[in-house]
Amino acid sequence: MKILFVGGTGTIGKKVTAKLQEKHELVLAGSRSGDVQFDMTDYRSIEGMFQKIGKVDALVVAAGGAYMGPLAQLTEEHFYQGIRSKMMGQINLVLVGQHYLNNGGSITLTSGILSEDPIANGTVLSAINNAVNGFVVGAAGELLQRGIRINVVSPGLVEDSAEAIGSYFPGHNPVPMDRVVNGYIKSIEGIQTGQVIKVY
Ligand SMILES: NC(=O)c1ccc[n+]([C@@H]2O[C@H](COP(=O)([O-])OP(=O)(O)OC[C@H]3O[C@@H](n4cnc5c(N)ncnc54)[C@H](OP(=O)(O)O)[C@@H]3O)[C@@H](O)[C@H]2O)c1
Repeated sequence: MKILFVGGTGTIGKKVTAKLQEKHELVLAGSRSGDVQFDMTDYRSIEGMFQKIGKVDALVVAAGGAYMGPLAQLTEEHFYQGIRSKMMGQINLVLVGQHYLNNGGSITLTSGILSEDPIANGTVLSAINNAVNGFVVGAAGELLQRGIRINVVSPGLVEDSAEAIGSYFPGHNPVPMDRVVNGYIKSIEGIQTGQVIKVY
């Protein structure tokens, strides 16, 4: 399969792409790194990226951030940062990318455990992750009619991030990277659609 992987150089992405490249042809995309550069917060930049790459069999996104900070200090703009990046960045990749997917193709997005297991300072991410999950549930039926599957992987705190950000996740069990990788493999190579694939 030809797989476009947005965020393929990131903490999660590099482990998933290492596994995928054993069997598939990968195109890595990032804002500075990878084979092709674009900005997922900019709809036109997404269009330009797909025009350059052309048709693919799978689109995978393991990218997109959101503001973390105390609820008492949150502003509307803090939410919009996450909306522009992790929420609409991923959704716009689907809105544009659906027209570049071969029949029988798949889309895999990324949310996260904070959708249902909150931490202090994580309100924006909890909201955004649920929005991404909701988009996938909503979009799956119509995409299926056109022969395209869509799922979202929702990882817990991953092992490779535990040292850097584990202190923000008291009591959370870091998820081994091979389990995280398998969540993406299930979505890309399996048969499910419309699923939130929880890897906690
Ligand atoms: N790490 C965890 O424990 C964890 C747990 C649950 C969920 N998640 C979610 O998983 C996703 C990936 O997390 P991660 O820790 O692997 O992130 P990461 O290490 O920061 O990697 C982010 C990736 O996204 C790319 N990227 C960043 N901004 C971009 C932009 N504007 N346009 C296009 N590409 C962009 C980066 O490439 P460039 O540097 O080239 O831009 C990089 O490849 C995030 O949505 C995160 O919220 C992570």
